[in-house]
Amino acid sequence: MIIIANWKLNLTLAEIKSWVLEFNAFSSSYSLNKVTPVICPSFIYVSYLKENLLNAHIGTQDSSEFLEGEYTGEVSAKQLKDYISYSIIGHSERRKNFSETDDIVQKKARLCVEHQITPVICVSALEQAAALKSFRDIIIALEPLENIGSGIPAKPEFIEDTAKKIVDIIPSAKVLYGGSVTAENAKGFSKLKNISGFLVGGESLNPVYFINIIKKCDM
Ligand code: PGA
Repeated sequence: MIIIANWKLNLTLAEIKSWVLEFNAFSSSYSLNKVTPVICPSFIYVSYLKENLLNAHIGTQDSSEFLEGEYTGEVSAKQLKDYISYSIIGHSERRKNFSETDDIVQKKARLCVEHQITPVICVSALEQAAALKSFRDIIIALEPLENIGSGIPAKPEFIEDTAKKIVDIIPSAKVLYGGSVTAENAKGFSKLKNISGFLVGGESLNPVYFINIIKKCDM
Protein backbone atom coordinates (compact mmCIF):
# COMPACT_ATOMS: atom_id res chain seq x y z
CA MET A 1 0.00 0.00 0.00
CA ILE A 2 1.22 3.47 -0.87
CA ILE A 3 0.05 6.00 1.68
CA ILE A 4 0.62 9.59 0.65
CA ALA A 5 0.45 12.63 2.91
CA ASN A 6 -0.74 15.67 0.99
CA TRP A 7 0.00 18.56 3.31
CA LYS A 8 -1.40 21.13 0.84
CA LEU A 9 -0.67 24.74 1.88
CA ASN A 10 -0.11 23.88 5.54
CA LEU A 11 2.67 23.60 8.13
CA THR A 12 5.57 25.90 8.92
CA LEU A 13 9.18 24.81 9.32
CA ALA A 14 8.78 24.62 13.11
CA GLU A 15 5.67 22.44 12.74
CA ILE A 16 7.40 20.23 10.18
CA LYS A 17 10.37 19.75 12.52
CA SER A 18 8.13 18.36 15.22
CA TRP A 19 6.16 16.26 12.68
CA VAL A 20 9.43 14.72 11.51
CA LEU A 21 10.59 14.00 15.08
CA GLU A 22 7.38 12.11 15.79
CA PHE A 23 7.40 10.27 12.48
CA ASN A 24 11.07 9.27 12.75
CA ALA A 25 10.53 7.87 16.24
CA PHE A 26 7.86 5.65 14.72
CA SER A 27 9.55 4.76 11.44
CA SER A 28 12.88 3.85 13.02
CA SER A 29 11.34 1.52 15.57
CA TYR A 30 8.62 -0.11 13.49
CA SER A 31 9.47 -2.08 10.42
CA LEU A 32 6.84 -1.60 7.79
CA ASN A 33 5.92 -4.66 5.77
CA LYS A 34 3.19 -3.53 3.46
CA VAL A 35 3.15 0.25 3.50
CA THR A 36 5.26 2.74 1.56
CA PRO A 37 4.75 6.21 3.09
CA VAL A 38 5.21 9.25 0.83
CA ILE A 39 5.21 12.76 2.28
CA CYS A 40 4.33 15.72 0.04
CA PRO A 41 5.16 19.12 1.58
CA SER A 42 5.30 22.53 -0.07
CA PHE A 43 8.35 22.80 -2.36
CA ILE A 44 10.45 24.81 0.09
CA TYR A 45 10.46 21.97 2.63
CA VAL A 46 11.44 19.19 0.25
CA SER A 47 15.15 19.44 1.00
CA TYR A 48 14.55 19.59 4.76
CA LEU A 49 12.60 16.34 4.53
CA LYS A 50 15.21 14.82 2.26
CA GLU A 51 17.84 15.42 4.90
CA ASN A 52 15.81 14.55 7.96
CA LEU A 53 12.95 12.17 7.28
CA LEU A 54 13.63 8.49 7.93
CA ASN A 55 12.10 5.56 6.07
CA ALA A 56 9.68 7.45 3.88
CA HIS A 57 9.66 8.74 0.34
CA ILE A 58 9.25 12.39 -0.50
CA GLY A 59 6.94 13.79 -3.13
CA THR A 60 5.66 17.16 -4.26
CA GLN A 61 2.14 18.48 -4.72
CA ASP A 62 2.82 19.62 -8.28
CA SER A 63 5.50 19.72 -10.96
CA SER A 64 5.70 22.19 -13.82
CA GLU A 65 4.38 21.58 -17.32
CA PHE A 66 7.65 23.21 -18.48
CA LEU A 67 11.18 21.92 -18.13
CA GLU A 68 13.29 25.08 -18.00
CA GLY A 69 13.43 28.65 -19.22
CA GLU A 70 11.42 31.83 -18.79
CA TYR A 71 8.71 30.52 -16.42
CA THR A 72 9.04 32.55 -13.24
CA GLY A 73 8.00 30.71 -10.13
CA GLU A 74 7.85 27.23 -11.65
CA VAL A 75 9.64 24.11 -10.39
CA SER A 76 10.30 21.37 -12.93
CA ALA A 77 10.71 17.60 -12.96
CA LYS A 78 14.28 18.10 -14.11
CA GLN A 79 15.02 19.96 -10.86
CA LEU A 80 12.89 17.76 -8.64
CA LYS A 81 14.25 14.42 -9.75
CA ASP A 82 17.26 14.70 -7.42
CA TYR A 83 14.95 15.05 -4.42
CA ILE A 84 11.72 13.19 -4.93
CA SER A 85 10.30 9.97 -6.30
CA TYR A 86 6.61 10.91 -6.55
CA SER A 87 4.65 13.98 -7.57
CA ILE A 88 0.94 14.62 -7.15
CA ILE A 89 -0.38 15.97 -10.45
CA GLY A 90 -3.77 17.46 -11.31
CA HIS A 91 -5.25 17.59 -7.84
CA SER A 92 -8.82 18.91 -8.08
CA GLU A 93 -7.74 22.01 -6.13
CA ARG A 94 -5.22 22.75 -8.89
CA ARG A 95 -7.66 21.93 -11.67
CA LYS A 96 -10.14 24.34 -10.06
CA ASN A 97 -7.97 27.16 -8.65
CA PHE A 98 -5.23 27.17 -11.29
CA SER A 99 -7.27 26.13 -14.33
CA GLU A 100 -5.36 22.94 -14.98
CA THR A 101 -6.84 21.09 -17.92
CA ASP A 102 -6.40 17.43 -18.85
CA ASP A 103 -3.88 18.61 -21.41
CA ILE A 104 -1.74 20.41 -18.81
CA VAL A 105 -2.05 17.44 -16.44
CA GLN A 106 -0.76 15.14 -19.17
CA LYS A 107 2.19 17.43 -19.94
CA LYS A 108 3.16 17.53 -16.28
CA ALA A 109 2.79 13.79 -15.86
CA ARG A 110 4.81 13.05 -18.98
CA LEU A 111 7.72 15.21 -17.79
CA CYS A 112 7.64 13.42 -14.44
CA VAL A 113 7.80 10.01 -16.14
CA GLU A 114 10.69 11.18 -18.32
CA HIS A 115 12.55 12.19 -15.16
CA GLN A 116 11.94 9.00 -13.18
CA ILE A 117 9.31 10.58 -10.96
CA THR A 118 6.12 8.58 -10.51
CA PRO A 119 3.15 10.85 -11.14
CA VAL A 120 0.21 10.43 -8.80
CA ILE A 121 -2.52 11.78 -11.03
CA CYS A 122 -5.71 12.82 -9.30
CA VAL A 123 -9.03 12.22 -11.00
CA SER A 124 -12.49 13.00 -9.78
CA ALA A 125 -14.33 11.58 -12.78
CA LEU A 126 -13.77 8.71 -15.18
CA GLU A 127 -13.35 11.04 -18.17
CA GLN A 128 -10.22 12.40 -16.48
CA ALA A 129 -8.87 8.85 -16.21
CA ALA A 130 -9.77 8.15 -19.85
CA ALA A 131 -7.60 11.14 -20.85
CA LEU A 132 -4.62 9.26 -19.36
CA LYS A 133 -4.94 6.02 -21.22
CA SER A 134 -1.68 6.43 -23.12
CA PHE A 135 0.25 6.25 -19.83
CA ARG A 136 1.72 3.16 -18.24
CA ASP A 137 2.76 2.45 -14.65
CA ILE A 138 1.27 5.60 -13.22
CA ILE A 139 -0.60 6.00 -9.98
CA ILE A 140 -4.14 7.32 -10.20
CA ALA A 141 -5.71 8.83 -7.11
CA LEU A 142 -9.47 8.56 -7.23
CA GLU A 143 -10.72 11.66 -5.41
CA PRO A 144 -14.44 12.38 -5.70
CA LEU A 145 -14.94 16.12 -5.16
CA GLU A 146 -17.64 15.81 -2.52
CA ASN A 147 -15.47 13.56 -0.34
CA ILE A 148 -12.39 15.78 -0.15
CA GLY A 149 -12.12 17.54 3.18
CA SER A 150 -15.79 16.89 3.96
CA GLY A 151 -15.34 14.26 6.65
CA ILE A 152 -17.58 11.97 4.59
CA PRO A 153 -15.69 9.39 2.52
CA ALA A 154 -17.10 7.72 -0.58
CA LYS A 155 -19.02 4.47 -0.21
CA PRO A 156 -16.86 1.33 -0.47
CA GLU A 157 -18.97 -0.06 -3.35
CA PHE A 158 -18.45 3.15 -5.33
CA ILE A 159 -14.70 3.13 -4.68
CA GLU A 160 -14.34 -0.52 -5.72
CA ASP A 161 -16.50 -0.11 -8.79
CA THR A 162 -14.73 3.05 -9.97
CA ALA A 163 -11.27 1.60 -9.25
CA LYS A 164 -12.15 -1.36 -11.47
CA LYS A 165 -13.25 0.97 -14.26
CA ILE A 166 -9.98 2.88 -13.98
CA VAL A 167 -7.93 -0.33 -14.16
CA ASP A 168 -9.99 -1.40 -17.19
CA ILE A 169 -8.90 1.86 -18.88
CA ILE A 170 -5.24 1.74 -17.71
CA PRO A 171 -4.39 -1.85 -16.73
CA SER A 172 -0.90 -1.04 -15.41
CA ALA A 173 -2.13 1.77 -13.13
CA LYS A 174 -2.24 1.50 -9.38
CA VAL A 175 -5.32 3.16 -7.93
CA LEU A 176 -5.34 5.03 -4.64
CA TYR A 177 -8.39 6.44 -2.93
CA GLY A 178 -8.47 9.95 -1.44
CA GLY A 179 -11.22 11.84 0.36
CA SER A 180 -11.69 11.95 4.14
CA VAL A 181 -9.46 8.95 4.82
CA THR A 182 -8.92 8.35 8.55
CA ALA A 183 -7.47 5.59 10.72
CA GLU A 184 -11.05 4.43 11.32
CA ASN A 185 -11.96 3.85 7.68
CA ALA A 186 -8.53 3.05 6.18
CA LYS A 187 -8.41 -0.60 7.18
CA GLY A 188 -11.75 -1.37 5.53
CA PHE A 189 -10.86 0.56 2.38
CA SER A 190 -7.46 -1.16 2.18
CA LYS A 191 -9.24 -4.46 1.55
CA LEU A 192 -11.14 -3.20 -1.48
CA LYS A 193 -10.21 -4.79 -4.77
CA ASN A 194 -7.89 -2.68 -6.97
CA ILE A 195 -7.15 -0.20 -4.18
CA SER A 196 -3.40 0.12 -3.62
CA GLY A 197 -3.31 2.88 -1.04
CA PHE A 198 -4.53 6.31 -0.06
CA LEU A 199 -3.99 10.01 -0.58
CA VAL A 200 -4.51 11.64 2.79
CA GLY A 201 -5.05 15.37 3.29
CA GLY A 202 -6.36 16.63 6.62
CA GLU A 203 -5.43 13.59 8.68
CA SER A 204 -1.82 13.73 7.50
CA LEU A 205 -1.14 17.06 9.21
CA ASN A 206 -1.02 15.40 12.61
CA PRO A 207 1.76 12.79 12.63
CA VAL A 208 -0.05 10.65 15.18
CA TYR A 209 -3.17 10.38 13.00
CA PHE A 210 -1.09 9.70 9.90
CA ILE A 211 0.95 7.02 11.66
CA ASN A 212 -2.28 5.40 12.83
CA ILE A 213 -3.47 5.14 9.23
CA ILE A 214 -0.16 3.53 8.26
CA LYS A 215 -0.34 1.08 11.15
CA LYS A 216 -3.90 0.01 10.28
CA CYS A 217 -2.85 -0.71 6.70
CA ASP A 218 0.37 -2.49 7.64
CA MET A 219 -1.38 -5.12 9.76
P1 PGA B 1 -8.74 15.00 2.74
O1 PGA B 1 -8.01 15.47 1.40
O2 PGA B 1 -8.05 13.74 3.21
O3 PGA B 1 -8.57 16.13 3.68
O4 PGA B 1 -10.17 14.72 2.39
C1 PGA B 1 -7.62 14.55 0.43
C2 PGA B 1 -6.96 15.25 -0.73
O5 PGA B 1 -7.40 16.34 -1.10
O6 PGA B 1 -5.98 14.76 -1.30
